[in-house]
Amino acid sequence: MSFVIAIDGPAAAGKGTLARRIAETYGFHHLDTGLTYRATAKALLDAGLPLDDEAVAEKVASQLDLAGLDRSVLSRHEIGEAASKVAVMTPVRRALVEAQQRFSRKEPGTVLDGRDIGTVVCPQAPVKLYVTASPQVRARRRYDEIAAAGGTADYEAIFADVRKRDERDMGRADSPLRPAQDAHLLDTSEMSIEAAFQAAKAVIDAAL
Ligand code: C5P
Repeated sequence: MSFVIAIDGPAAAGKGTLARRIAETYGFHHLDTGLTYRATAKALLDAGLPLDDEAVAEKVASQLDLAGLDRSVLSRHEIGEAASKVAVMTPVRRALVEAQQRFSRKEPGTVLDGRDIGTVVCPQAPVKLYVTASPQVRARRRYDEIAAAGGTADYEAIFADVRKRDERDMGRADSPLRPAQDAHLLDTSEMSIEAAFQAAKAVIDAAL
């Protein structure tokens, strides 16, 4: 049976970086499930279709090819915003969760990161991590990322966005963002990437 590592947490908490590093270290397959919501939203936007029509969005979600997910074309801020809107629709979630569960069964193991992996997608995962950081720290990291890439960023606007996304992800009725009861909490506000990785590795090694 495949060994599943479930990583959840709010936007910009550092779970993507952590998930990739864990997958590389253990030779596991990695799926950033946020990309599945982003790809669904982008397909709707590109086709000029509405973001709030459940039947249309479900059809697009059920036709999604996980192998074709490309972060570089899905990372735009507007796509993230649109993704959190389509992510409130139950039929969309059902279609994407099914594809994510299929992925999670790949051998020898998988790392899935998102908002509801430990609670809904893979509730039986032997390792669940809930990675978080204060909204201020997360906004600052986003800001630094944009600045490092040569872009211009407005800290206050980014901070407001982080708060808005948290509210939408934690407040929705279907699969709200919350730690699973048996998740290990990892607050990275005061931690380097290396320290967060070492903490995660200790949890995984104890479960393997
Ligand atoms: O993590 P990322 O910013 O790429 O996710 C985009 C949006 O997709 C999130 O704000 C969230 O609303 C949604 N999402 C979700 N469940 C997941 C992963 C992402 O609802 N497992």
